[in-house]
Formats: sequence, structure tokens, C-alpha cells
Amino acid sequence: MTQELIEELYKRRNTPLPVQRHCLAVARQADHLASLLEARGIPLCRERLWAAAMLHDVARAERHHAAVGAAWLSELGYPEISGAIACHHWLSETQTRQISEASVLYLADKLISEDRAVSLEARFSGSLQKCLSEAGREMHRRRYAQAREVERLIMEAIEGEHPSRSKRERVHCETNF
Ligand SMILES: [Fe+2]
Repeated sequence: MTQELIEELYKRRNTPLPVQRHCLAVARQADHLASLLEARGIPLCRERLWAAAMLHDVARAERHHAAVGAAWLSELGYPEISGAIACHHWLSETQTRQISEASVLYLADKLISEDRAVSLEARFSGSLQKCLSEAGREMHRRRYAQAREVERLIMEAIEGEHPSRSKRERVHCETNF
């Protein structure tokens, strides 16, 4: 997917400029993680990941922006990008255990606040203060636990000592952008 098309989609959805800047920072973070994973023999489709990161908050101005943005990208003919956008706030149990474009986007989004890099600890301790009810705090604990689980999965893969050689071949991206 070209930068021109991404900008066109921002225009059509009235994506605010600060949100566009956030998306760019998340895309850079996600691509950085992907390059480290690739060096460890875990190939991801970086083009797809970049596009999904650039568009993950495209519908941020609307309610239920993850679902709305995902449905829109699917309608436009980008099902894989749509899939990663749909779960950028919450991964299924299976997705939590898999290194994929979806889980890398999910983590990259958690590691960027506005357009700045933050730790999970800083991010989640900041957002805890906004939870006013016990139910809200419980949901917050679950979200933080999931983020830590995904971070552990991805960081262990990056820092592992013995990556499998057989996985070193780059998988070709079959999606048209
Ligand atoms: Fe979002």
C-alpha cells in the first residue's frame, strides 16, 4: 500500500493529525521489532505490518474505532491489514501466543504513547489512574497482563540465543497493497 493511498484514507476518514503522527511512530516501532525478529529467523510481512500500523487508528475519530477501521479496510479489499487492526486493543488467546503481524502491531502500539516511546509499565501505570471503578481496574489488570505476555513472547524471540536456521528464509508477502 502506497503512502499516497494511506494519506487518502486518512483524508476520507478525517483522521486527526496527532493520530497520524501516532500511527507513524507505531509503524516505526513495529518495523523495528520486525527487523529484529527477522534477524532471528522469524519472518513477518513487513509491508503488511507497516500498512496495518499506519492505519490502525484510521477511524479514531469514531466510536469503536478498531472494529470500524477493520471493517472498512476489509471492504476496501485488505483483509490481512483489517485482521491486524481489528485486534490492536485486545488479542485472542491464540494470537497472544503467536508472533504475527497482529501481535507485533499490538505490542508496538502499547510501546508508543502519542508519538513517544514508553515502557509498558509507564503506559499502564498512567492509564490506571483513569479507571474509576473496580470493574475498570480489573479490565486494566487483564490488559496489562496480556501486554506483558506478548512483550515476553516477542522479546524472548528477539533475545533468544539459538534461532532456528530453517526459519531464516524470508516469507514472501502474497498480499497486494
Ligand atoms: Fe486504537
